Amino acid sequence: MSDPRPPAAAAGGKILLVDDDRALREMAAGFLRSLGHEVDDVATLEQARARIRARPFELVLADLILEHGTGLDLLAEIRREAIPCEVIIMTGHGGVESAVQAIREGAYDYVTKPLSLTRLALDVGRALEKHRLEQDVLRLAAAKDSAFGGITAASAAMRPVVSLLRRAADSDSNLLLLGESGTGKELAARAVHEHSRRAGQPFVAVHCGALPGELLESELFGHVRGSFTGADRERKGLFLAANGGTLFLDEVGTAPARVQVGLLRALQERRVRPVGAEQDLPVDARIVAATNADLDAEMAEGRFRLDLYYRLATFVVQLPPLRERREDIPLLVGPLLEDAVRRSGRRATISPRALARLAGYDWPGNVRELAHVLERAVLLAEGSVIREQDLPLPEPAGPGGEVLTLEEVERRHIEQVLAQCGGNKVRAARLLGIPRPNLYRKLERYGLETGPLPGELEPVNEAPPAPAAPAGGPAAEPPRRRQSGLF
Ligand SMILES: Nc1ncnc2c1ncn2[C@@H]1O[C@H](COP(=O)(O)OP(=O)(O)OP(=O)(O)O)[C@@H](O)[C@H]1O
Ligand SMILES: [Mg+2]
Repeated sequence: MSDPRPPAAAAGGKILLVDDDRALREMAAGFLRSLGHEVDDVATLEQARARIRARPFELVLADLILEHGTGLDLLAEIRREAIPCEVIIMTGHGGVESAVQAIREGAYDYVTKPLSLTRLALDVGRALEKHRLEQDVLRLAAAKDSAFGGITAASAAMRPVVSLLRRAADSDSNLLLLGESGTGKELAARAVHEHSRRAGQPFVAVHCGALPGELLESELFGHVRGSFTGADRERKGLFLAANGGTLFLDEVGTAPARVQVGLLRALQERRVRPVGAEQDLPVDARIVAATNADLDAEMAEGRFRLDLYYRLATFVVQLPPLRERREDIPLLVGPLLEDAVRRSGRRATISPRALARLAGYDWPGNVRELAHVLERAVLLAEGSVIREQDLPLPEPAGPGGEVLTLEEVERRHIEQVLAQCGGNKVRAARLLGIPRPNLYRKLERYGLETGPLPGELEPVNEAPPAPAAPAGGPAAEPPRRRQSGLF
């Protein structure tokens, strides 16, 4: 006689048994429990419906004929609602036709009554094994998905973002990444490049606000020898350096007017003209642009060209701020803390209360600020466990206390860090974990003392031309509430 015990991999199954025949139910449930399974047993379809919605089962073992319906009705509901479990239908004599139908509708198998316990044990074991294998495959696929380019994306807000980034990686269209500072725009740009057909070719990043107009122009498009004072050698330019690969235009919203004109030409004609050259050069670079500026406002005020916007925004992906995806915070903390520990050479783990405090904070500087806070906490912690009081975060407003807007929190924090650095903006930007030009813009916005970076505040003289939507492009009006997705 064959051994009725289930395969080892399928022990401890969570099984729901549905049969109105009490004696049979008790016998079968007792037998399955004796094999090490957890068994819930119910008599009616109604009870079965309630039970499968109340807790997860790996296998439902249902009689074909029930009081107010059939086991096939239950099977249909389970499949319709994509409840992840296997179903085995139990049929009496003459139920072969229904049994075949059950298999066609997605049951794992059927068993005939009177039950052979040997057959039941084997069938249950195999069904459980199949279910677990399938779940493993799904879990692996999900883990692979969230591992896209090292982007932590377990939250409901981030999962669709990663799907969009995957689609962007499969295409060669230009991509515009929007999002507050520190939300991972550069990380996303690199991930898209690495998963695109251009992986292995250069990924070249350029910060459009970091250089004055003429210098940025020659940085991007190159120059010929003698084209301006100091141009004592020919220079190829970053567009050509990115040939075959991806050019990442960071903070594209800050690109001065003349650079915007050159960018538009490069995007429309796939040619660039080095400063001082007589001829254009062909170029094949995929453009990924990013900005944390409000491009609608920039366009409304004539500082950003509408036609350039449309060229860049074939694909638009909005990266949500960290406060809108708090579920990701605990998952981000692990690897960020590991990084901080590696850099500092100190050992550190984090207490549950400190973790809760991190998950509750609003993170105006997003993931970059989280990384920075963890880095400082590792240094500030007295022992090897980071406690709540070790976190360099502003005091939360108490009940009835003043509730600050995010902007106000950011303004005060910048003020405090600047004071801490004795007004040294280079150090302050480093401590805040943001690029220097971003700090200058924030200082200006909050009316804190600053001197603008050259080129950053250059006025744009050309009024944007009347928008002509490019073929397959978006409608002429820029969308007021821009959404992630393909136009
Ligand atoms: N979803 C994420 N998962 C893991 N790390 C992330 C994620 N988002 C951002 N980071 C990390 O946070 C830091 C900031 O990200 P990144 O530089 O890409 O932001 P950004 O949007 O380009 O910011 P800015 O607008 O200030 O340039 C990086 O160290 C990055 O690796
Ligand atoms: Mg960036």
